Amino acid sequence: MFQDFKNNIDYFLRSKTKFSRKNFVEKSESALFRNYLENLYTYDLLEQIFDVNYQDKISVLDIGCKNWFYAKGEYSFFKNHCNSLSLHGVEIDAYRVYSNFYSRYEVAKFYTKDLQNCLYIPDNLLNIKHRYNYIVWILPFITKNPHVAWGLPQRFFAPEKLLNHAYNLLLNDGQMLIVNQGEKEADIQQKMLEKLKIKYERKGIVKSEFLQYKNDRYAFLIKNN
Ligand SMILES: C[S@@+](CC[C@H](N)C(=O)[O-])C[C@H]1O[C@@H](n2cnc3c(N)ncnc32)[C@H](O)[C@@H]1O
Repeated sequence: MFQDFKNNIDYFLRSKTKFSRKNFVEKSESALFRNYLENLYTYDLLEQIFDVNYQDKISVLDIGCKNWFYAKGEYSFFKNHCNSLSLHGVEIDAYRVYSNFYSRYEVAKFYTKDLQNCLYIPDNLLNIKHRYNYIVWILPFITKNPHVAWGLPQRFFAPEKLLNHAYNLLLNDGQMLIVNQGEKEADIQQKMLEKLKIKYERKGIVKSEFLQYKNDRYAFLIKNN
C-alpha cells in the first residue's frame, strides 16, 4: 500500500520533470566489454528463435526497452535480413534517473547512436498503434511483485491486457518473441497465452556461448498466421 503510494508519487514527478544530465557516454572499458557480450547474446537469441526471411522492409518493436543497452544486437540481426529497417523501442519509465543522474532515455541515446531509423518511444505500450513485422519482449512483468519492486505504480500492472495488445500489433505473418526469467514465470506466461487463445511455441531454456545469466531464460515464439 505504502510502496504503491511512493511509486505513484515518484513516477508522477519523474514523468513530469523529465530531469536528466545530458550526453551520456559510457567510458568504463569493463562496462563496454560487458555490453559487447550482451549485444552478441541478443543477436544469438534472435537468431536461435526467429524464423526470418529476407524482406525489403522490416519493422520491429522492442517492448520495455529500459535504457536499450541491447539495441545494437537487435539492430544488426534484423538489418541482416532486410534492405530497410525501422526499429522502435517503447518504455513506460523512460525518465527514471540512475545514481549518476542520467535518465534511461538519455542512456538509450548513447546505445542507439548511429542506428538509422531507430526510435525510442517514452510511453505505455497500450498507446502504441503502429503495427510491426517483429516484436521482441524481454522480461515482461507478469507477476505483481517485480513490477512494484521496479518502482512502477500498480495501476500499470495489466499483463493480460498488454499481451493481447502486443499480439494485435503484429502484422500478418508477424512474429513475437517473449523471454521470461525462470521456469515459474515461463509457466505463468504459458497459462496467460492459453487463456488468451494465442498460439505459441515454447522453446525452452535459451543458452548462448556469449553470456550466461544467473537465472535461466525461457523463450516463447508467437506467430500471427
Ligand atoms: C524487467 S524490465 C526488462 C527490461 C529490458 N527489456 C531488459 O531485457 O533488460 C521490464 C521493462 O518493461 C517496462 N514496462 C513495464 N510496463 C510497460 C508498459 N506498459 N509499456 C512499456 N514498458 C513497460 C518497465 O519499465 C521495464 O523497463
